[in-house]
Amino acid sequence: MSDNWVRVASASDVPEDGTLLVNLGAEPVCLYNLGGKIFATHDTCTHGQASLADGFIEGEEIECPLHQGKFHIATGKAVGAPCTEDIRTYAVKIENGAVLLKE
Ligand code: FES
Repeated sequence: MSDNWVRVASASDVPEDGTLLVNLGAEPVCLYNLGGKIFATHDTCTHGQASLADGFIEGEEIECPLHQGKFHIATGKAVGAPCTEDIRTYAVKIENGAVLLKE
């Protein structure tokens, strides 16, 4: 892992109160737009093979589409069963309209 910032999307591509699946190298990452602020977590649920980008945003949380486990988007904390393992989050920077993630 390096300290490089990598462009993964345009900020305008992430729908308001929605998600966008992107790739950071080989890793699938889910971007979230919460009231105009962009967050990023790993896209694969820590409970199983489900894409959080297909999940449902509820306030500050994402609900997994497979078994309805929940994570706090900003911190990655597992906050709803059956998820018990936190999900990785990524530092996000917006520059000239682009979403940059730290590798
Ligand atoms: Fe996400 Fe089971 S795969 S809650």
